[in-house]
Formats: sequence, structure tokens, C-alpha cells
Amino acid sequence: MSETELHVGKKTVPVVDEKGLLELLNGDLSREYQAIITYIQYAASVTGPYRQELKQFFSAEIPDETMHAQYLADKIAALGGVPSVNSAPVPQETDARKMLENIVEAERLARNNYSERAAQAEHLGEIGLANHLEDMADDESGHLDETLKILQGWPK
Ligand SMILES: [Fe+2]
Ligand SMILES: [Fe+2]
Repeated sequence: MSETELHVGKKTVPVVDEKGLLELLNGDLSREYQAIITYIQYAASVTGPYRQELKQFFSAEIPDETMHAQYLADKIAALGGVPSVNSAPVPQETDARKMLENIVEAERLARNNYSERAAQAEHLGEIGLANHLEDMADDESGHLDETLKILQGWPK
């Protein structure tokens, strides 16, 4: 392993210092805000024969993403940073299939980011944070798998 790079699976991830980690965690926080808003908008807006199921499915993600956001904000403050109040842009959508596709993209990104972030935190000796980030990668992975299964049987 070089001084400046970490390896996560086949990927190479840059080593960051405490300040760099805080910036990355704030980016993660802004994407958790995005996820919360996305699921609220999608649960409200989804139409069609599967509205009831999808509304329930989208709504059920909100508490998980809220806990992720709260954990990240608490941790950023504990590490001496200021938690972001800005959401990443929300992909507003009214078509059910596009909603599911947007979710797949966002959950995959979140899962991959938390795997990388866990390695970066571990490198800084932040073992508790690293473990929690791995759990969050697992949560996002579960969201991703369920969404992919819904899309597998989706009418064209
Ligand atoms: Fe999340
Ligand atoms: Fe998620």
C-alpha cells in the first residue's frame, strides 16, 4: 500500500487527512438530505397500479436515511467540523420507473462512498467511525438490492 492511496476491492481511494475527511463526510451528509427529500417527494408523487406498494416502500426508507444524516452531522460536529445544511440536488420525478432508476443510482453511489469512507476513516485511526460507515454501506446495499428486485419485474 502506498502512502497516498488505499485499496477498497479493486478501487483505489485517496488517503485524506482529518480536514479532508470532514469535507467528504459533509458531502455524504448533503446526499443523505437529498435521499430524505427524494423519498418524500417520490412517496407523495408516485402514481399507477403500484402506487400503494411504492409509496410504502419509499416512505419506509425515510427513517434510515434520517438516521444516517443525524449520525453524520453528530460525527462531523464531534470531529470539530460544521455540519452542512445544504442538500445535493434532488432529481424531481413523477414517473415510477425513473424514480426507481434514480434510486438505484443514488443508493449504489452511497454504498460505494461509505465503503471508501470507512477505509479512509480507518486509516486515520477512527475505528468506531469506520465500523459505523461499514454498517451504513450495508444499509445502502440493502436499499439498492430491494430496488433492483422491484425493477427486475417492472413492465416495460
Ligand atoms: Fe443513507
Ligand atoms: Fe439509502
